[in-house]
Amino acid sequence: MKQCQMVIGLFAALTSLVASASMEQKYPVQTEQWQQTKASYEREDMLEKHPATVILWAGSAYAKEFHSPRGHQFAVTDVSHTLRTGVAPEAGEKGMSASCWTCKTPQAWQLMQKHGEQGYAGANFTDFGSQIEQVVYCSDCHQGDKGALALPRPHAKRAMEKVQLPFAKQKHSMQASQTCGQCHVTYYFQPEASNQVNIPWIFGNTVDEIEKYYDTRRFYEWIHPISQTPMLKARHPEFEHWSRSKHAAQGVGCVDCHMAASTDGSPASHKVGGAWELFDSNCTSCHTNKEKTKSKLEANKAWVEQARTKVEDLLVKAHYEAKAAWDAGATWPQMNTAIMAIRHSQWRWDFAVSSHGVAAHNPQEAKALLNKSLEQVSLARVELAKLLATLKVDEVEYPDYSSKASAQKAIGLDMPALNQQKQDYIKATIEKQWQPVANVKP
Ligand code: HEC
Ligand code: HEC
Ligand code: HEC
Ligand code: HEC
Repeated sequence: MKQCQMVIGLFAALTSLVASASMEQKYPVQTEQWQQTKASYEREDMLEKHPATVILWAGSAYAKEFHSPRGHQFAVTDVSHTLRTGVAPEAGEKGMSASCWTCKTPQAWQLMQKHGEQGYAGANFTDFGSQIEQVVYCSDCHQGDKGALALPRPHAKRAMEKVQLPFAKQKHSMQASQTCGQCHVTYYFQPEASNQVNIPWIFGNTVDEIEKYYDTRRFYEWIHPISQTPMLKARHPEFEHWSRSKHAAQGVGCVDCHMAASTDGSPASHKVGGAWELFDSNCTSCHTNKEKTKSKLEANKAWVEQARTKVEDLLVKAHYEAKAAWDAGATWPQMNTAIMAIRHSQWRWDFAVSSHGVAAHNPQEAKALLNKSLEQVSLARVELAKLLATLKVDEVEYPDYSSKASAQKAIGLDMPALNQQKQDYIKATIEKQWQPVANVKP
């Protein structure tokens, strides 16, 4: 039986490789555009831009490195080179899960077919490095060689069944957005299933419904080393935010804005890219008053920026005030309300800010999330202030997070050592033994 599954898996992988190769030949225009995503190579160091996030993510790999997204051609290179995926573990030790490949390459679901979902997820990220050959590829979104749309990732298929919108029953325009939504969606690694990727949508996909899922399972992604809070991590919920936006309600999907029709006559440009930079070609087809639309979007972006910064400052304070309370001998029954409020506040903040482009995708939801986050962190701080007074603590020491470097130092990360270790691994292994797709240069 097992052997049979492996044969089927291998067959599926082979046929999809063949179909993809012929798609490149059959559709040179789309292939050329797909390659052009390499032109979008600039990215921002998000920890430098928001140093407080280093403190909020202390104890998680996000505190080491986090950049804004760039063109699809860099996806395999960037996940290989980031400090977040580290280096190969020592023999007998466990490294980062292979699940980190899931949203970068078609080899991810092909490897799932070959090894089973848990067999794949249970392996180390670095185990498969040399087998990764393609990046966000035709076969990730298409089936056969006629451009029919596909959803090859099993966790995405299951998630859509959970919300009663299976792929096969979707309209074409929804299926088009869904191809993006198999990666641009929030997820977590299921510890009880060998770190398999799971989309936590049993109750639905709003921030409250996902939180309920995590809370009822007493799930946490890591324990925050400063405040001892059992933390949750949101990851790029673009699909969720878009799905309940004004644009989605009007049938405007990811493709309308990010794959805007180009002048060469092809229906959708495969140079998937920043919609904002291409305002003229991507938005003016529907928004005739360009200046008004633009200033509305600018205003939304500015609001999100100031609101998130305010919440970040308060969350840093709350984590350290909780530490001061623990240090002064506080007990769990005394801390419970404040700790849960920190968890719920940071979850909402993350659900807003880790969604790239939320100011454009769903400004109403961004506002609701950040307002609730502010309310929760304020509640945590009121509780902590009362407790600190009872414990006779009248001074709390806050860290210096005026820059990424000072924040990383404050939480005890040895960045020179981490960087050196990664650079050595890149030179000795990734550049020498992995495929060109893991070594794309701008
Ligand atoms: C990230 C997903 C994604 C990837 C990767 C992708 N496509 Fe597409 N492709 C789409 C979507 C979505 C549409 C449908 C657009 C619509 O109908 O609105 C599409 C449409 C097409 C079509 C139909 C005609 C057209 O342009 O609308 C062809 C042909 C095609 N793609 C070829 C390719 C080839 C060749 C590759 C690989 C080099 C590729 N695609 C990679 C998502 C993708
Ligand atoms: C297989 C997973 C996958 C699929 C499918 C996918 N993306 Fe992405 N996308 C990524 C990753 C990963 C990045 C970040 C790459 C990096 O920074 O190295 C990214 C980056 C982007 C960016 C930033 C580009 C830039 O130039 O700044 C946009 C916009 C984007 N994706 C939109 C889409 C849209 C629209 C679709 C559907 C047509 C889609 N993506 C499908 C994984 C995917
Ligand atoms: C109405 C048009 C529109 C729709 C629909 C839309 N986007 Fe966007 N998207 C934008 C704009 C505009 C930005 C840039 C916002 C900014 O600069 O803050 C953006 C930003 C992004 C980014 C971040 C790009 C970067 O370089 O930081 C990603 C990724 C993304 N969108 C993916 C998606 C996905 C996936 C969907 C569908 C589920 C989608 N978008 C639907 C307009 C749209
Ligand atoms: C295919 C048509 C279409 C495209 C393309 C499109 N939009 Fe829209 N947009 C709409 C519709 C329809 C609405 C809803 C109007 C309403 O609510 O009255 C809307 C609403 C908006 C709003 C107001 C949202 C709010 O929350 O009040 C903004 C801002 C906006 N669009 C920005 C953009 C940007 C930026 C782009 C390009 C990246 C874009 N749109 C592309 C159709 C489109």
